[in-house]
Amino acid sequence: MKDEGQVSMRDKGIEKVIEAARLVLSGRAAVKDAVGEEAGRILGLGIPEPAGTFSRSHFPVTAFIGEALRHGVPETQPMLDVLAEVLPNLPWKYNYEPRGDMPDLGVKMAWGEIIGPEAPYRCSSFCFGFTMIAPDSLYPAHFHPAVELYYVLSGTAEWILNGKAALQKPGAFILHPANAVHAMRTGKEPLLAMYTWSGDDVVTLSQYVWENHGKD
Ligand SMILES: [Fe+2]
Repeated sequence: MKDEGQVSMRDKGIEKVIEAARLVLSGRAAVKDAVGEEAGRILGLGIPEPAGTFSRSHFPVTAFIGEALRHGVPETQPMLDVLAEVLPNLPWKYNYEPRGDMPDLGVKMAWGEIIGPEAPYRCSSFCFGFTMIAPDSLYPAHFHPAVELYYVLSGTAEWILNGKAALQKPGAFILHPANAVHAMRTGKEPLLAMYTWSGDDVVTLSQYVWENHGKD
């Protein structure tokens, strides 16, 4: 996410969040592994001009913003500090098809995207946003063609990748390769995490595994 000097039309709060993300990714990019490589790749991408605006969201999961801001660690606090004023105004959404066995998923989780194909900073080559999941909730197994990098800001939760579960704390980076099946399960704390999507296809939406994974 390199700054191309086109700041005049940009939202100041959002700019601070992008700068905080750049710092976090820069630190991680110094480590020579797959996560560091992905962080470095994201840092090299240009930030688009905003095509939309930010306004207060009343999406259900925004009720957990205050709690999420209290469950960080010193390492994630700088980003939480700049997010406090921005999170209520992100374009939160839940965009899976409804599923009858878990009708309240859209109440328990959402993502607010700053950069992406439908985000205020319009871009079809990478995405940047935040995922929020309520306490005691399961984000069921899903997959997507985009490569996904998460950075946990607040809340310790169980993260499952290709059937292997691990507890991840604030400060952790998690890399989901293209089309890898992954899931998250929160405990007593809400989960707030930064994410990026990159790769050949960041437009195709995520799908739950039970719907049609492996059928073609
Ligand atoms: Fe994902």
